[in-house]
Amino acid sequence: MTTETPTSPPLLRLTDISMSFGSTQVLTDVSLEVRRGEVLCLLGDNGAGKSTLIKIMSGVYQPKSGKIEVEGRPVTFTSPRDSARYGLATVHQFGGTFPLMTIGRSFFVGAEPEKGFWPLKRFDRKFANEVAVREMRQLGITRVTDGDRLVGGLSGGERQALAIGRAVYFGASILVLDEPTAALGVKEAAHVLRIVMAARKKGIAVVFITHQVTHALTVGDHFAVLIRGAKAADFRKGEKSREEITDLMAGGEAMAELEAELDAYENAHEGHAPQIA
Ligand SMILES: Nc1ncnc2c1ncn2[C@@H]1O[C@H](COP(=O)(O)OP(=O)(O)OP(=O)(O)O)[C@@H](O)[C@H]1O
Ligand SMILES: [Mg+2]
Repeated sequence: MTTETPTSPPLLRLTDISMSFGSTQVLTDVSLEVRRGEVLCLLGDNGAGKSTLIKIMSGVYQPKSGKIEVEGRPVTFTSPRDSARYGLATVHQFGGTFPLMTIGRSFFVGAEPEKGFWPLKRFDRKFANEVAVREMRQLGITRVTDGDRLVGGLSGGERQALAIGRAVYFGASILVLDEPTAALGVKEAAHVLRIVMAARKKGIAVVFITHQVTHALTVGDHFAVLIRGAKAADFRKGEKSREEITDLMAGGEAMAELEAELDAYENAHEGHAPQIA
């Protein structure tokens, strides 16, 4: 693991990134930096712009304005392949894996190991399956032993492990995870959080997007909160309490409004639960 001095440039730095779709402004002057061996949690409510920001980081979208630097050098990502060349691996919020592909195939998609000589070259299924199963096992997934199984039959946590294992195997230095724990049960979410910690320990910089403050607090070193496309807060571990973060995410006033609404409802219904038709 390479150590970094606080003065060395961060692995990835975004400066004043703005983005719009047609007349809709989605991001306004967002700046972020990610360092080696650090987990940056990106928090924010639905529609705050988190996925859009990480799509810019990974070259899916080009920003309308702003700057991206890798280790202090300005870069332009015109495709996800571009960002991958700089060590960025992104596991997107929806999909990212291929339900009808086998585990071994999907692990090596785009980088298929081959054996034999042309014209008899073929996909080295045995090798691919062995590596995929081994890498998942290293992340604590022990129930998957057959690389010929279809990805569609894996649990949510297992799929995340497959995607993360793949990124680590191909040497990612920046791992971007968009809501990897959102659809998971407690046990599976804990597992994914452990994988994040393992990646961090290897010196990988992790950008972890989540709604769940508890998950963020468990793994985060550094936090940024997006509200309606703008960065509302940026702080390090221990600088804010869970309540402060929850309030921030709800936009403060939104939380108070919701409480008032619930109170009014309680009063109107004298504490009875609503009738369900
Ligand atoms: N391709 C697009 N065209 C138009 N508007 C878009 C597009 N992609 C995103 N948006 C809008 O930009 C805003 C931010 O969306 P984004 O998906 O980045 O939010 P998010 O923070 O990831 O939300 P969630 O927590 O629900 O995943 C939303 O209002 C969304 O409707
Ligand atoms: Mg999103």
